[in-house]
Amino acid sequence: MENRVGGKVAIVTGGSGGIGMATARALARDGFRVMLSDITADRGASLAKELGGDFRTADVTKEADIEGLVSDTVREFGRLDVMVNNAGIVGATGRITEIAAAEWSHSMAVLLDSVFLGMKHAARVMQEAGRGGVLLATTSIAAHRTVGGHPYNAAKHALTGLIRSVATDLSVDGIRVNGVAPGFTMTPLSSQFHDSDEKARARLSELNSLGQVIEPEDIAAAFAFLASDAARNITGQEIIVDGGWLECMNRPGVFNRQ
Ligand SMILES: NC(=O)c1ccc[n+]([C@@H]2O[C@H](COP(=O)([O-])OP(=O)(O)OC[C@H]3O[C@@H](n4cnc5c(N)ncnc54)[C@H](O)[C@@H]3O)[C@@H](O)[C@H]2O)c1
Repeated sequence: MENRVGGKVAIVTGGSGGIGMATARALARDGFRVMLSDITADRGASLAKELGGDFRTADVTKEADIEGLVSDTVREFGRLDVMVNNAGIVGATGRITEIAAAEWSHSMAVLLDSVFLGMKHAARVMQEAGRGGVLLATTSIAAHRTVGGHPYNAAKHALTGLIRSVATDLSVDGIRVNGVAPGFTMTPLSSQFHDSDEKARARLSELNSLGQVIEPEDIAAAFAFLASDAARNITGQEIIVDGGWLECMNRPGVFNRQ
């Protein structure tokens, strides 16, 4: 399917991380001018240069940062067509009895409030321009099973609801709202749970019914499709990119490699 767009503009948050960088590359390849953003400039800033886009430091938990990111993008590139709300952290882990309220709040701010803020401010400029648009979010298999810490699972489940709810709201503006739910994907976020990248890759391929490692590029491909006009009649949905893990996890010895 031909995904190429002419002159459209996309923002990607978490743009110094694995999935964000791969998504920025995929969108640029499809013709988008890309504004990358992250709390740290780091790798995202050099990638922005390489892609002929730009980079802004922004903390996704701060409304003023998100508002500034959106308005800077429109000022610099003249428009905004796609907002990929992707930044994330592992968040608080451990037993519910031990999670401090402040840790809970911070986890929810990064994983859930950030997407509300990104959707709110991107939708405002899209409504004003009257050209429609696309709002995207990185959810997770943790939106469908409890694979992370309590706030991670709760936030990702909530994102599924937020996507469906906002899709209904913004359909009258021609704005589509969708998510991509990665399975265990080879990025800094997931490799921190393993002693080495080699061990991480071995474990990730076990957590994949197809026996493959999910690369950030696999997630980026789903985002590029949802950002494109090829998905013009898709809204309120999530594409699960998990190598079949969710469907097969309860069938040990049949389809499950664990
Ligand atoms: N890697 C996986 O297995 C996996 C699976 C399911 C979902 N996800 C989701 O994918 C998204 C991207 O994660 P990733 O795997 O690329 O991880 P990553 O750690 O490589 O990237 C995440 C990025 O988010 C940025 N970030 C964190 N807090 C921020 C803040 N307050 N403001 C702005 N940026 C902030 C980080 O600096 C980092 O660059 C996350 O939402 C994560 O929950 C990842």
